[in-house]
Amino acid sequence: MYCLGIESTAHTFGCGVVSNKPSDGAICTVLSNESKMYKPVEGGIHPREAANHHANVAGDVVSAALERAGISAKDLDLVAFSQGPGLGPCLRTGATAARALALSLDIPIIGVNHCIAHLEIGRATTGCRDPVMLYTSGANTQVIAFAEGKYRVFGETLDVGIGNALDKFGRDLGIPFPAGPAIETMALKSKNYIPLPYCVKGMDVTFSGLMTAAFNLAEKNGIVFGTKPRQHENSLLNDLCYSLQETAFAALVEVTERAMAHTEKNEVLMAGGVARNRRLCEMAKIMAEARGAQCFVPPASLCTDNGAMIAWTGIVMHRSGVRMKLKDTQINQKFRTDDVEVKWRKNGNGGSI
Ligand code: ATP
Ligand code: FE2
Repeated sequence: MYCLGIESTAHTFGCGVVSNKPSDGAICTVLSNESKMYKPVEGGIHPREAANHHANVAGDVVSAALERAGISAKDLDLVAFSQGPGLGPCLRTGATAARALALSLDIPIIGVNHCIAHLEIGRATTGCRDPVMLYTSGANTQVIAFAEGKYRVFGETLDVGIGNALDKFGRDLGIPFPAGPAIETMALKSKNYIPLPYCVKGMDVTFSGLMTAAFNLAEKNGIVFGTKPRQHENSLLNDLCYSLQETAFAALVEVTERAMAHTEKNEVLMAGGVARNRRLCEMAKIMAEARGAQCFVPPASLCTDNGAMIAWTGIVMHRSGVRMKLKDTQINQKFRTDDVEVKWRKNGNGGSI
């Protein structure tokens, strides 16, 4: 089966084509994974502007995905799209494109939970079977695992996602969006830890206090550069980036470890754009190995938001019997991970697909 998946929860409009071998439905082959990203000129993401961007690029990205996959639209068997959670105008644009394709090609359509798609593409491409997923992206920060018929959230941020927190810290200092990779590069130049607030509350985390404390230190020491990007060669800034990462990532790894202990699972799966950060993955790996567990990191193109993960999850859901009518394809900005009935994992060991 060939499935085209559309991702449009936030700044990325992605489209991927995925097939599963008829002889073994559990084998995922990513045939293409194209995307275009909206970058605000200044400030954060403006949902309406991001949606306009998505509407403008949708046709090109879909055509590019089909072309790279080496198939034509009429070869498609299924269309899947990100139904939520995400920014309303962005989600609506992707859903509209998906409905148009499904109607014109007369093929089924499936709305996919974005967070679950990160987990399913990780299972399909890394070889892990029943992981605790540490999902760290711009807007989302959650620890998710399968338990009693559903993917459940064992811990999450109580305020902003870790990626947005890093981006905002960068923006306040004049580092262009997305600041996460720049912060990682600067952090590599330091080993000098400056104590910052460490916020774990039960199984949840918060980042705004940490970011404010780091920003206040930067401001007090005159290293706020305004809105103009420039070379940030400053050793205190390197120290702050290093300390921010160490503090925030330790909190994330702590709650992940607790979820592993609670669920008695022995795999951790990294997902989301921030999982591209090598230090975060290293810390998760050290934690996993210390408890005799394994850490899995999908390729970078499948960690970040992408259409292929939506396409694959569409296939997985379709194979388990999920069918949607057009009226079921409304977007849901606050779509919770545990709202989804996970029909494809009946016994919880990941063996059914
Ligand atoms: P979602 O809609 O799932 O919340 P998103 O739209 O923010 O996701 P992603 O591509 O998953 O998109 O993640 C983007 C985030 O990842 C940005 O906040 C960016 O700063 C961060 N990021 C990317 N690379 C790195 C890195 N190497 N280190 C830290 N953060 C990173
Ligand atoms: Fe995401």
